[in-house]
Amino acid sequence: MTTPRYFALVPAAGVGARMESASPKQYLPIAGKPMLRHVLDTFAASDAIAHTFVVVSASDGYIHELMNEGMHLANRVTVLSCGGATRQQSVLNGLHEMREQVGNEDWVLVHDAARPGLTLQLIDALIDVLREDAVGGLLALPVVDTMKRADADGRALATVARDGLWAAQTPQMFRYGLLRQALEQVDHCTDEASAIEALGLHPKLVAGSPRNFKITLPQDVALAEIYLKGFS
Ligand code: CTP
Ligand code: MG
Repeated sequence: MTTPRYFALVPAAGVGARMESASPKQYLPIAGKPMLRHVLDTFAASDAIAHTFVVVSASDGYIHELMNEGMHLANRVTVLSCGGATRQQSVLNGLHEMREQVGNEDWVLVHDAARPGLTLQLIDALIDVLREDAVGGLLALPVVDTMKRADADGRALATVARDGLWAAQTPQMFRYGLLRQALEQVDHCTDEASAIEALGLHPKLVAGSPRNFKITLPQDVALAEIYLKGFS
């Protein structure tokens, strides 16, 4: 058996509706370069990652300029113009397009384009924990706030016990064959781990970092700038 390799798959086919910006949020400049460039530069710089695939929408008008500005990405990153209507569909379409280059036992690290705070250290930490794992897992953070369940009026119905609650991040790292099967079988999911859970398997939670948060709203940009300018 050959040693499994590690591939990155970056879904970047969203429109960023909640960001309300003129261009899709993954192309907004943060600390001097587009959000997506931060992610692709990090994966391209990782010795652990064999190759990176980025999924964009068929009508994307920005990716070619981004790739041209990052000449070093040319043989480290492949652009797949097969984005779907949902994140799940974009990831699944990407997995299908990658099939010739990737074996069933190879690992795929799925990472949101909207999390530019990813670091080489976080990639290494995830791989170190999971390389021998039967299931795979994801970066996540233990919840620290007291959690409330709201009613339709925005009033607290109940306090949800925080014990054992984690907030999921990405990368989410699973074997290619298992991940593809899981995403094909599940009706709807917002992350890969929940598709794996639907198979009755239990993904490992690996401590992520606050800097790896997902940029969703306009006010998130300033915080991301602090993280990306303040650390390498
Ligand atoms: N994504 C994707 N294909 C979709 C929807 C989302 O590849 N049809 C990607 C986004 O580009 C992003 C990641 O999935 O990198 C996480 O999604 P999210 O933060 O929700 O981004 P958007 O869907 O673009 O934003 P919004 O939900 O505010 O529209
Ligand atoms: Mg979305």
